[in-house]
Parts: sequence; structure tokens; C-alpha cells
Amino acid sequence: MDLFKKCFDFTRADEVKALGVYPYFRPIEANEGPIVQIEGKKVIMAGSNNYLGLTSHPRVIEAAIKAIEKYGTGCSGSRYLTGTLDLHIELEERLAKFFGAEAVLLFSTGYQTAQGIIPTLAGRNEYVISDKDNHACIVAGTLMSKGAMGNLARYKHNDMDDLQRVIEKIPKDAPKLIVSDGVFSTGGEIVNLPRLVEIAKRNNARIMIDDAHSVGVIGKGGRGTASEFNLENEVDLTMGTFSKTFASLGGFVAGAERVINFIKHFSPALIFSASPTPSSVAAALAALEILEEEPERVTNLIDNANYMRKGLKGKGFHIIDGRTAIVPVIVGNDEIAFKMWKLLYDGGVFVNVFISPGVPEGRQMMRTSYMATHEKEQLDEIIHIFEQAGKQVGLI
Ligand SMILES: Cc1ncc(COP(=O)(O)O)c(C=O)c1O
Repeated sequence: MDLFKKCFDFTRADEVKALGVYPYFRPIEANEGPIVQIEGKKVIMAGSNNYLGLTSHPRVIEAAIKAIEKYGTGCSGSRYLTGTLDLHIELEERLAKFFGAEAVLLFSTGYQTAQGIIPTLAGRNEYVISDKDNHACIVAGTLMSKGAMGNLARYKHNDMDDLQRVIEKIPKDAPKLIVSDGVFSTGGEIVNLPRLVEIAKRNNARIMIDDAHSVGVIGKGGRGTASEFNLENEVDLTMGTFSKTFASLGGFVAGAERVINFIKHFSPALIFSASPTPSSVAAALAALEILEEEPERVTNLIDNANYMRKGLKGKGFHIIDGRTAIVPVIVGNDEIAFKMWKLLYDGGVFVNVFISPGVPEGRQMMRTSYMATHEKEQLDEIIHIFEQAGKQVGLI
């Protein structure tokens, strides 16, 4: 049997393309934040994670350009060897201050951060306990962990009773790491951190929270999940990404200096991969400064998302309610999902489509997400186009 047989047999994407409703890999030709250009046409972006709208902010752009002029376009080496710039250290120190953490370490992407931390910390006879809806990078890191084969434990999504049940099965004195998204990337729900902390404390477990969708969104001045619940001293490791609120590319982890120092010296994802580019680091640094100076951006973002929750619910859509920047609109099957996406796109709105098996059957959704910089008229237009499309596919 040929290894590539499965590749030749995979035709689902071509079939969807032939119907003209394929929503993925659409090239964006120009990006102004809430408005992007695709196939020569301006559409409202309602699916980006550019939460504070900073990818086109003049100060962020200027910082990236200046960094290229000073340091060049790439670092050509890992942090461990020739790839550490003073700029990396500056961003680490500034982030540590922002989170009130002892230390921060940068990675080249958010994905690499989780994948790089979990197997470095959890080895043989050590347990990683993970929410079933955690992001793929946490799953990848957990599967790579030496403890994973026999010692991987998963609990039902954000179900703290189930976490309690799972953790009770693990030897009480065994080293454990509980890992959860702070804000879940698909549904936008916030982890039940107070109960998670309580369970971790009673069971000798450390806690890692992935705040990719939380920083700049929840917590005091956008400081993320631990800050949201006043539990800054209880979360051992907070990781995040620069690809969303920070308008750039890269990842980071914040925690105790001794732990960060260990990850720094033992994580293959850090040691054997080139460091984030000068322009990426400088852009993230400028975005962090803007977040610190203009916390009202966080308020605008949540006001916009709340406006959309109310507006879409008011039209009769089934949404997953919440208080983050993510507003999932449930459509319930793949066919309606593709049709709905195409109607929205033709109407001038770009959203993300999640189909099965990426989400369970019945949970197929238009995952919409908002920016601090969306104008009210744009939000009203999104609601209007949703209403027309929803009526056409029989959803409302
Ligand atoms: C929860 C979560 N963690 C990590 C990542 C990965 O971040 P990055 O885009 O920096 O690789 C994402 C991005 O989709 C995410 O949603």
C-alpha cells in the first residue's frame, strides 16, 4: 500500500471548492483591521484575533520597521546561541512587569510555547491533566510528554467535578500539571479558575493557563485570566501568544524565575528553533505599550462583542453566550455552515467556519470575533447580513 494513498483519496475539499463555498485559505490582499480586501472586494472582517486592532497601528508598524533597520530581517539562530537580541530581553522584562511575574521567556510561536513547555516539565511518572477542549498545541505538548502514554488525563470541558474525579484517580503525591485555556479558543468561555485552583491546591498540582485569547481581553487592563479572578498568585505558569492582541507573531510564558530558567535550558522547542524576528518582537513591544497606555481599548473590544451578542441573539440566532471577544453562532451542520459562510461572504462579511470533526456534530459554527476598532455601523452591517443569510438558510 502506498503511503500517499490517503492523500489521493482525500477529495472533500475539492468537492466543497467545486460548489463554490470553500471558505479556507482565502488570500487577503489588503488589511486595514476591521476591513480587508479579498478577491478585489472590501469585506468586514468578523473573524480575526486582532483583538485591539493594532496590526495596522502606525506606532506598531513604525516599531517593526525601525527594528528591521537596526537588526535586519531575522535572527538566524536560536535564543540559546546567536539568536538573543537585547530586544528579546526587553520584551521579556516588560511582560514580566505587566503580569507581575518573576520572569518571562519568549518562544517563536504560541503553538511552540505549549508544545515546548509541557514535555519539558512533565516526564515519566508525572501527570498532565488537560481540559478536553484545550487548544491543539496543548494536546501536542501533552502527547510529547514522556508521562503521556500512561499518565495523560483529560477531563470534560470546563467541568470541575470531572477534573476532581480524574485527579482523584492519580496518586496523591505524584507530580501533576493541570493545563487549561484561559479563554477557550472555539467557544470563547472562560475557565472556572477559582474551582480549578481549589482542586489543584488540594491535590498537589501545578497550574498552567494558556491566555492566548485572554490577554488584552479580560482581567485588569487586559492582564488575562488570573487577573480576572484576582488569582495572580495561584497560577504557576501563564502562556500566551503575540499573534492576537499583540498584533505580531511569537509566544511567551510567565512564571517563577527558577521554573522559567529550567524551561530555558531544557525545552527543545526553544533551543532548536530560531528566535522571533526583530520586527515581530518590536511590534509586540509597541502593542504592549499601547495596551498599557490605552486600557480603554479593552473596554471598547468587550462593548463591541457584547453589542454583537445582543444583536445576533435579538435576531434569533443560537450563540454561545459569554463575555470575551469570541461570539460563536451555532448553525448545526456542515452543509448549512458552508452555505451560510458563502452568503455572509457574498454579503460582505468574513467569518471563520468550524465544521465537524473540528467541532462535535451539531456544534458546527460561524466563529465570529471582534476588534476594539470595529465601528458601530460595521457591527450593524454584520448583524444585517447575518439576518439575511440566516433567513435564507432557514436558521432563523
Ligand atoms: C488557545 C491558543 N493557544 C495557542 C495558540 C497558538 O498561537 P500561535 O498563533 O502564536 O501559534 C492559539 C492560536 O490559535 C490558541 O488559540
